[in-house]
Amino acid sequence: MLDLGLAFQQQGLKLGLVPTMGYLHEGHLSLLKLLEGKCDIKAASIFVNPLQFGPGEDFERYPRDEAQDLKLLDSAGCDLVFIPSVKDMYPIGFQTYVQVEKLSQPLCGRLRPGHFRGVATVVLRLFTVTRCRYAAFGLKDYQQAVIIRQMTRDLFLNVELLFGKTLREPDGLAKSSRNAYLSVPERHIAARLPFALEWARSAALAGEDKTHNLRLGVEKLIVGNGEATIQYVDIVDPYTLEPLEAVGPKAVLALAVFVGKTRLIDNIMIGPQGESEPVVEMKV
Ligand code: PAF
Repeated sequence: MLDLGLAFQQQGLKLGLVPTMGYLHEGHLSLLKLLEGKCDIKAASIFVNPLQFGPGEDFERYPRDEAQDLKLLDSAGCDLVFIPSVKDMYPIGFQTYVQVEKLSQPLCGRLRPGHFRGVATVVLRLFTVTRCRYAAFGLKDYQQAVIIRQMTRDLFLNVELLFGKTLREPDGLAKSSRNAYLSVPERHIAARLPFALEWARSAALAGEDKTHNLRLGVEKLIVGNGEATIQYVDIVDPYTLEPLEAVGPKAVLALAVFVGKTRLIDNIMIGPQGESEPVVEMKV
């Protein structure tokens, strides 16, 4: 397997990496900006990682447009793009996986068994092959961010993590490559997610402390007449991801919802000490 980062390291050049699965949008490009002034080489990887998709999930139909991605990365000042093949990442005989035990269990982990094992494994592999000193991730997948932080700490990885705010469409929908799956009517329904999250944040600030009530309120706002299917709406501790009965000073409200066949995730920090985005929690 190629050791992409070795030559840079030997020349004393610091590489910063934005790991992606491609079909890039402004959210990804904003992560490249986080690297500015920190490293000598701003790099991105494009790899749709089969290990993080379960049976029946959208691995095959995950949107891909390499030519457009390369144009966008070039215009965003990316110096290097790493596009490995599945064989590069998982050669015959590959058998080492990373499991971040507790943090992988709740939220998406409960519904997508093996997903975070696939994410942690590929991220570690990307870190080692590129020998990056910095890596930037978006906070739309809050659980993923917490898991990568834990892995980085547990394995003493010499990588400084940077976390970028979720970028949103004008109506608040979190930018996501999977938004491309939505039909026009589904796109309207999807806009209920950020609306419901903001509602919960305001309700918690106005004194509604019971997570049960907040969760019910969010579910009602999203489901409407049954146009959307809730996978989960959970309110958890920002550090441990354990479920909370009362919001307390701060909590993360995270959700996964199917609009048609498209699974959307989003989150918001709630509580009197919460931020609109959980950026503060993720500083390392
Ligand atoms: O967030 C993503 O796009 C992916 O989970 C990641 C971090 C690139 C790993 O495949």
